[in-house]
Amino acid sequence: MKTEHAPTIQRADYRPLSWTVETVDLHFRLEPRATLVTNRMVCVRNPQAEDGPIRLWGEALERVSLTVNGQPPRALRENDGALEIDAEGARVLVEVVTRVDPKANTTLSGLYLSSGGFFTQCEAEGFRRITCFPDRPDVMARYTVTLEAEREACPVLLSNGNLVEQGELPEGRHYAKWEDPFPKPSYLFALVAAKLVALERTVTTMSGREVLLQVWVEAGNLDRVEHAMDSLVHSMRWDEETFGLELDLDRFMIVAVADFNMGAMENKGLNIFNTRFILAKPDTATDLDYENVESVVAHEYFHNWTGNRVTCRDWFQLTLKEGLTVFRDQQFSADMLARAAGPEGAASARAVKRIDDVRVLRAAQFPEDAGPMAHPIRPDSYQQINNFYTATVYEKGAEVIRMLHTLLGQEGFRNGMDLYFSYYDGQAVTCDDFVEVMAEANGVDLDQFMRWYGQAGTPRLKATGEWNAAAGTYTLTLAQSTPATPGQPAGLPLVIPVAVGLIGPDGRDCVLRLEGETQGVATTRVLRLTEDAQRFRFVGLDAEPVPSLLRGFSAPVILELEEDDPRLAFRMAYDADPFNRWDAAQRYAERAVLALAAAPGSGLPQAFVDAFRTLLRDEALEPAFRAQALALPGEAYLLERMMPADPAALRAALVRTMQALGDALAADWLSLLEAMQVAGGYRYHPGDAGRRALANLALRYLAAAGNAEGLARAQSRYETATDMTVRFGALAALAQSASPARETALAAFHARYRDDALVLDKWFALQAGAWRWEAPAAPTLERVRALMADPAFSLSNPNKVYALLGTFFRANPGEFHAADGSGHAFWAEQVIALDARNPQVASRMARALENWRRFTPALQASIRPRLEQVLAVEHLSADVAEVVGKALE
Ligand code: TRP
Ligand code: ZN
Repeated sequence: MKTEHAPTIQRADYRPLSWTVETVDLHFRLEPRATLVTNRMVCVRNPQAEDGPIRLWGEALERVSLTVNGQPPRALRENDGALEIDAEGARVLVEVVTRVDPKANTTLSGLYLSSGGFFTQCEAEGFRRITCFPDRPDVMARYTVTLEAEREACPVLLSNGNLVEQGELPEGRHYAKWEDPFPKPSYLFALVAAKLVALERTVTTMSGREVLLQVWVEAGNLDRVEHAMDSLVHSMRWDEETFGLELDLDRFMIVAVADFNMGAMENKGLNIFNTRFILAKPDTATDLDYENVESVVAHEYFHNWTGNRVTCRDWFQLTLKEGLTVFRDQQFSADMLARAAGPEGAASARAVKRIDDVRVLRAAQFPEDAGPMAHPIRPDSYQQINNFYTATVYEKGAEVIRMLHTLLGQEGFRNGMDLYFSYYDGQAVTCDDFVEVMAEANGVDLDQFMRWYGQAGTPRLKATGEWNAAAGTYTLTLAQSTPATPGQPAGLPLVIPVAVGLIGPDGRDCVLRLEGETQGVATTRVLRLTEDAQRFRFVGLDAEPVPSLLRGFSAPVILELEEDDPRLAFRMAYDADPFNRWDAAQRYAERAVLALAAAPGSGLPQAFVDAFRTLLRDEALEPAFRAQALALPGEAYLLERMMPADPAALRAALVRTMQALGDALAADWLSLLEAMQVAGGYRYHPGDAGRRALANLALRYLAAAGNAEGLARAQSRYETATDMTVRFGALAALAQSASPARETALAAFHARYRDDALVLDKWFALQAGAWRWEAPAAPTLERVRALMADPAFSLSNPNKVYALLGTFFRANPGEFHAADGSGHAFWAEQVIALDARNPQVASRMARALENWRRFTPALQASIRPRLEQVLAVEHLSADVAEVVGKALE
């Protein structure tokens, strides 16, 4: 068994440091095997803290020298992993020289190499892998950075802020000096030294300043950066218009790198991105890729204010910047979609975006909140902070901000944001500070609302309705409960905004009048549930209404409302709230699929097929919306709704559901293919994207059903496609079928894109996610193993790992959880191999089995020894140890 478990850090233990840093002067002599880093920092005593030593953290580096005011330090100790230096007076100059080996750095945290260039990643605690520093977000300092490198290998030298000097040096070397005018925490430091080219644009900000925008990529990718640049310009405009927030620098740079642990990083003035969220052109990127580029560019740009100008006091406050910034990027994307869709399609376009976001929440965050890693959006403790960049902190955190927005209204929310910046610009603050400022700006009490920050677990919202025909009243009773989670008892009542509508028998919304009101006011109203249970009585109704609750998903809860099949079909056809119309379809589909899983001999209810057909044929609905409503709920979400979770039974039920819907509606799907043709060349536009999405969905159903005409259409669409959305949609349909055309198409795709890393990721993922449509077909695991030997695959590149292994572990439960345990053995093998190189990536893969206790006894018996096997590994990282340890607890 493992012995050196990582210590647990407690939120309650936060103390300000005795010494902080005013200015940092960094010099890098960049060499792949031995980079010399000279760090001269002015350390100052912190008047807000108790007396104590200067504390510096350092990790995976060689300390060459350390002086205080030019002298060897009087006393230097190691304590709790930190260097402690006793110093006199109020300010001292500390100089630390360290040597690091970027080439050996496979963790992609700190300073590392990618395609011969130097890149950094410092959030959360990577800066300490570069130099010794009080590496905490509450230490905000001004940075000056000099980079020195070989001109040939690294013609471009970038860091945060403004370029103030550059020049030649002997022996083919050159240098550049950068100054960042804004104080920042060390996690926002960045440098890039590589062979890159830039697309440039100058724009004028709202106050009339000219600023230079650059997107840096490898020369061969310059034809794929236009969309990222457009997205940046749109983000800047949106933040000016929506929040009055302007870019504060003369220059804003984005750099794309192929080896990157996450999506992107908001380093001040120098955002660094995973190539997959920058590069896009019609031949290589799908509509979804275009959408993701736009939203990630926006997300990182928005961090400049929510994250950088105002940052987090400590890492427990992570959702302060992430929840808020995700909410902002969601609003931005919704506004962009609505604008492109025009007045007619705007509401539907917004709903489609909301549906996307809720799908992610339900598939990723709900299971997390129900498992051993469950934590509040502001956690109370962690062993490894990298494990807390989670769906809870990000996505549930964004839902909490959205509820504030709902409760305060757009104007009230904006007033709160204005006050937030007026109080805290340039500071490192807490979630309490944010919520308090929202309360102050709006003259409301948000004390109870604060519980959302401290309680884990997905709240259950139970609703019952009572119709009184004689009085014409409908009484809605809402009750809430939050389940206990590891280390936390059941929760106290939360403030839950519940958006409600009542649908009359004619399918039209009733005007809502609550008891005590003289007249009705609207057809959707937000009720505030604050107690364990509350009653709301609607009066003046002519006939028994059908309730439509939690419209627009007004709170991140699980709604429990008894609805029979006809009622779900009714709401699928008539609910005026498009989100709830989609949700009714999802609930109906969930019920149908889970019933099939429980009784494999049964068939799909005809009424369900009919309701599906009605939606499919409703031409008043935007194609993008229909594509959402006709897609089955995600497999991960369904697994979460099954007790015990039986992936094989679920997969069999999904296969039969796809086949049955493909068969029964074949004529409709085929005519949709015709109707959804998009004329003209590719453009990224929500209307076109919706048509392509619906056509691709039709192909999926037809291919699943083995429909000969459908398969022929998939093949011809594959061959004649002029953009990646159509080409990959056709390929995916073929690959997700029992058709013999599947191998030919996969080979043709590979031949066409053999040199394109990002497109090959799609090819890997498609095969790792493949279902088996006929019993004798080979297990997907065999294919995954074979693909690992492909020359394009590499365990060192996170995108490749996520595409092949991540897809297999997380998006293919039917194959991963094969009854013979082969998938679980493979998981242990890969997690162990990855952990030795890159603990952050390994830990993400490790999480694929955390909810193992929900599975059937046979699967649990297969999984437990694999978890134990991993935990027993010597020198296991704290990252993986935390995940696996908690899973076994
Ligand atoms: N702060 C980044 C974002 O939300 C994400 C991030 C956190 C990250 N840690 C990272 C990115 C480590 C790369 C590597 O946009
Ligand atoms: Zn972020």
